[in-house]
Amino acid sequence: MNIAEQEMENYSRVKNADYTREADVYDSKRFASDLGRFYVDLTNAILYDLLQVRKEEKILDLATGTGRVAVGLAERGVSISGVDLTWKMLQRAKEKVEERKLKNVSFHVANALHLPYKDNTFDKIVSIRFFHILPFVMQKAIVREVARVLKPGGFFVAEFNSPFAGLFLWAARRDHQVIWPRQIKALFNEMIVVKKVGIMLPGVGRVARMSRKAGERLGRSLTFFPFNHLSNQILIVAKNPASVASHASAGL
Ligand SMILES: C[S@@+](CC[C@H](N)C(=O)[O-])C[C@H]1O[C@@H](n2cnc3c(N)ncnc32)[C@H](O)[C@@H]1O
Repeated sequence: MNIAEQEMENYSRVKNADYTREADVYDSKRFASDLGRFYVDLTNAILYDLLQVRKEEKILDLATGTGRVAVGLAERGVSISGVDLTWKMLQRAKEKVEERKLKNVSFHVANALHLPYKDNTFDKIVSIRFFHILPFVMQKAIVREVARVLKPGGFFVAEFNSPFAGLFLWAARRDHQVIWPRQIKALFNEMIVVKKVGIMLPGVGRVARMSRKAGERLGRSLTFFPFNHLSNQILIVAKNPASVASHASAGL
């Protein structure tokens, strides 16, 4: 193991300890309020529309935590697996699955740096509220691992904090790790970035407080340029290049 790999393993150990401590209060601290629930529902609705999952497709929620997204998508009929480094976060996820009697979702402990799957396993992989907690070098290693387990032509949807949220709000939120356009380029240089989708334009929450329906309509409709860059979070949708073989069979 080289020094960079050793550092990433150490970083994983620290995060595992952090989230083991956090697991029992993770959801209640962030998503128990009306606004928190609205944010969760809006994120899952946008992801569901974006992923357009077909019945036979294999879907992975990477760093699923308490299964917020995996459970939300499973409730909408998507069959999905979730992996996470932290066993205790997954216990909370499994409790939700039992409560809701879902049969189409499963969870496994795994480090995103070395996923326990063969090459070309998944059609689509989604990862929410994960990359912003990682140093860039680790983001890069994980995108490479994602590209390995994604099928050729498969899609990866990863959420980041937008630096331009609410017109340069980043200046007032230095504690939030954001992604700059040049970093998107460097991170996904072996994939094709096909879309950038905004989540939670500042002000949408305020509208939702007055009328949840109006907030949802606004949040779901203002996901494209330039609102995507002004939103708090941005989903990068990147495609794995099709293989040489699939190009050949398509006659290209
Ligand atoms: C902020 S939480 C996000 C959880 C979930 N995706 C959500 O949106 O609620 C970050 C998650 O990343 C997990 N994590 C941290 N490092 C990881 C790694 N190297 N591999 C897999 N999961 C990791 C943590 O255990 C934690 O559950």
